[in-house]
Amino acid sequence: MESTLTINNQKYQLERYPKTDDKTLKAWSNAELMVLEYVVKKEAKNIHLFNDRFGFWNCTLNTKKVTTIWNYASQKKAINHNQKLNNLNTDVIYKTPLDSLGKVELALIKIPKSLELFELFLQQVHKASISSTEVVCGFMTKYFSPSLLKIASSYFEVSEQSKAWKKARLLILKKPKEKVNYKIISNKINYNETVFNQYFGVFSSGQIDIGTQFFLQHMKVFSKELKVLDLACGNGVIAHELVNKYPSAEVTLIDDFNLAIASSKLNLKNKKATFICDNNLNNLEDGCFDLVVSNPPFHFEHENNIEIALDLFKGVKRVLNGNGRFLLVANKHLNYKTHLGFLFNKVTVIEENLKFVIYECIS
Ligand SMILES: C[S@@+](CC[C@H](N)C(=O)[O-])C[C@H]1O[C@@H](n2cnc3c(N)ncnc32)[C@H](O)[C@@H]1O
Repeated sequence: MESTLTINNQKYQLERYPKTDDKTLKAWSNAELMVLEYVVKKEAKNIHLFNDRFGFWNCTLNTKKVTTIWNYASQKKAINHNQKLNNLNTDVIYKTPLDSLGKVELALIKIPKSLELFELFLQQVHKASISSTEVVCGFMTKYFSPSLLKIASSYFEVSEQSKAWKKARLLILKKPKEKVNYKIISNKINYNETVFNQYFGVFSSGQIDIGTQFFLQHMKVFSKELKVLDLACGNGVIAHELVNKYPSAEVTLIDDFNLAIASSKLNLKNKKATFICDNNLNNLEDGCFDLVVSNPPFHFEHENNIEIALDLFKGVKRVLNGNGRFLLVANKHLNYKTHLGFLFNKVTVIEENLKFVIYECIS
């Protein structure tokens, strides 16, 4: 895997966190390189970085005063890892996508897969903009969609696209519009007589995922299963339905994405629940759960990758007590049974349809 690059005569080593065995993946893209090239000589103060997934900009702009808008717990770890690897200052000013931003003169955005999340970013920038604010967005041309321009034009008078370079391109936004009707940055989803809220960018924006619905139809919990983990909780729908059906259960919800956790907090406001934003189970004690339920992740942004799920399964094995159970739903083509069979004593398919399968794993 390519991990070194030289920028303005300075050599950097940048690695992916979590590590991957896929040699084609690296910790930066040509889109991020192009954005850097465009902004590096600018004198702007109040620089804000959005979606700096592995810390490429945090490292290469380390001498400038920047604010990083973070989305993922794993992103913070990646940024810290790469700053240390390059002996750079590790003090980062972090804000979440929901925090107000003060003043933004220059914003750098690696356009995320979720266009709703892109809109949320632009809205936050716009609220903190001055007349000279410039937003430099980078994207790989294969992910271009006309909706990008439509969203951008709701917030900025001027939007210019650069020429493509190595399959990447810039979208540069200037002149914040004077009058903007800000959008409500969360969606409401009706499911099972409940209205679920979820912030822009959280998994399955228009409806409860059909795999999750299939899982919920068949999820059975034993009365002795009191300590339950909803792994990769998204908007928290699985935990919500579980505590509604089994009120004595005490649920912990974990997700890598801070807006997933923020959405879950809204949806389980009055429930006995603990919320954790993290990308693994390392901070949870051995054997502390009776049951783990999950619709685990198998893609990250535009990348399909089951490595993350397989790592999470190892964590599940460790945090389940001796008689614990792991119930999960997955797309059939992922063929998790073999992987689960290496970890758990017994793996049973308890339901399946044309697209999904529900496994029960006994620890
Ligand atoms: C398939 S979605 C399921 C969401 C929710 N449980 C549902 O059924 O609607 C997977 C979730 O995994 C989260 N995720 C991705 N990587 C993760 C990781 N390493 N640790 C915890 N959550 C992760 C994503 O943010 C996403 O919310």
